[in-house]
Amino acid sequence: CKFHPGMRGTITVEGVVGGVAPVETRFEQPLVVPATRRGADIRLVMRRAKVRALADGPRTTMWTYDGTYPGPTIRRRGGRGTEVTVVNRLPRGAGAMSTHLHGDHHAPADDGQPTTHLIRRGDERTYRYPLLVDGRPEPGSFFWYHDHRMDRTARNNWRGLQGMFIVTDPPTRGLRLPTGRRDVPLMVSERSFTPGNQLTDPFADGPDMTGHHGEMSWTGEHAPPDDATVGDTVLVNGRHAPYLEVSATRHRLRLLNSSPFSSYNFTLSDGRPFLQIGTGSGLLPRAVVRSSVLLGPSQRADVVVDFSGASGQRLVLASVPAAPGTTGDDARETAVMEFRVGAPAPDASRLPSRLPSPRLVAPVPAQVSRTWTFGLEETARHGSAWTIDGRAFDPRRVDHRVRLGTVERWRLRNDSEVTHYVHIHAQQWRTLLRDGERPPPWERGLEDTWRLEPGEEVEVAARFTDYTGPFMIHCHMLDHEDHGMMARFDVVP
Ligand code: C2O
Ligand code: CU
Repeated sequence: CKFHPGMRGTITVEGVVGGVAPVETRFEQPLVVPATRRGADIRLVMRRAKVRALADGPRTTMWTYDGTYPGPTIRRRGGRGTEVTVVNRLPRGAGAMSTHLHGDHHAPADDGQPTTHLIRRGDERTYRYPLLVDGRPEPGSFFWYHDHRMDRTARNNWRGLQGMFIVTDPPTRGLRLPTGRRDVPLMVSERSFTPGNQLTDPFADGPDMTGHHGEMSWTGEHAPPDDATVGDTVLVNGRHAPYLEVSATRHRLRLLNSSPFSSYNFTLSDGRPFLQIGTGSGLLPRAVVRSSVLLGPSQRADVVVDFSGASGQRLVLASVPAAPGTTGDDARETAVMEFRVGAPAPDASRLPSRLPSPRLVAPVPAQVSRTWTFGLEETARHGSAWTIDGRAFDPRRVDHRVRLGTVERWRLRNDSEVTHYVHIHAQQWRTLLRDGERPPPWERGLEDTWRLEPGEEVEVAARFTDYTGPFMIHCHMLDHEDHGMMARFDVVP
C-alpha cells in the first residue's frame, strides 16, 4: 500500500507533497460560475457556440449545452424528480450524441447508453431522474453530465459537452456548510489551443470510428497503448487561469476533474489544508484534513477551505505531482486558479466531526462476488485494445448478469502497466478493501470511480436496487473507454 502509514486515525494530515505552484501563470480572468437551473423540467440545447476560454484574442468555438462551457449547473434536492430534455442542434458531422448523468441512479432507458438511445441531429430526448435510491431521496451529491457516445466520448468531451449536477443536501441539524457564493463548483479540464484560440483536434489522425456495434477500429498514434488525450492548458469552469475573490471565511469547493485523461493532485500554495467532507457521491462519515487531493478523470471531491487569516493574500490552487514512487506521482504539474482573499466576514458555517453520511451496505451478506480484470490485449478483431477480462467492448455482448435486489461484491483488478480510473454505472458503491487493506479515510464514503494503479486491486460492494436492464463499467480515461475498456452488465429480475 503506497499510502502513508499512520493514516488510520479519525482525522489525519498527510505529509505535505511537492512544493509551491510552478508558476509564471498570470491570473487575469474572473472565474465564472455556470448559470444554475433548479426546475423540474429542464431543456438543454446542444449547439455550437463561441466561448471565452483564454484571456486574450478570439473566443473559442465549442460544442456546448445551451451555449456555455460548462453547461448550466443543475441543482435539485434529492427526491425531487427531474426531467432533462436534451436537443441536438450540433453541426453536421458531429453525429448522434448521448448524454449521461454521471453518478446518478436511474433507469437504463435514461442512462445515456453509449450505443443505443442516440440523439440524432435535429432530435431530442428526455431523461428522467427521480433522484431516489430504493424509495429514499438520493443523498446530497456532486454529479456531472457529459456526452457518452460510443467510440467518440473523448472527442465529444474535448469539444465541450460537459456540465455539473448538484443534488443538494437535505436540511440537517448540526450541519451548516458554506452556502450561496461560498459554495463553488469547480470543473477542471484541460485542452490545447491553436494560435487562433481554437481547440486542437487530437483526433484528426485518430481512430476510424464507425460507431457500429462492435465494429470499432483505431489506428496510428491514437491506438492503444499510446492513446492519451492530454492538453497543455487547464480550464476551470471553462476559463484558463481564473481568479476568484473570496472573503476570509470558509468556502465549500466542489472539485471535479473532467479532463479526458490526466489526473490532478490539488494543493494550495501556502500549504493550507483541504477539509474533505465528501466524495462526489455524498458526505464522508468524518471530515478528513488533507494537504493534497488527487483526482483522476471524472472523480470529485467535496472540500471546505478556511481562508481566515489569509486576508490580502493570493493563494494558488495548483496540481503538484506526489513524490516519485508514491500515489499521485503521475499527476499534472500546473497552476490551476487563484483565490484573492479579502476581508474577514461573518461565518455561520459549522462542521461537526461526524457527518450525516449516507448509509453503507453491509458487506457481510454479499451474495455474489465477481472479478473484473483491466488489461491490454491483442484482439483478433481490433489489434491492440484496452480490455476488461481480455475482451474489448461489444455492446451486444452481456458480460455479466446481476440479480436485482442482490448485494454484490466486485473485485476490480488492474493487470496492465498503466493506471486506470474505473467507473461503474447504476449504483453508488462502498469501498471495502484497497489492496487487501481498509481504504484510506477519504474512500470510506460512497464512490463510483476508483483509481487502480498497476497491480492494484480494489473491492467494492453495492446492493442493486430499482432498475433492470443494461449498464456499463468502464475506464474513465476516455481514450481507454473509446478503445475497448468498457463492458456491459445487465441487471435482471
Ligand atoms: Cu462519466 Cu460512463 O461515465
Ligand atoms: Cu484506463
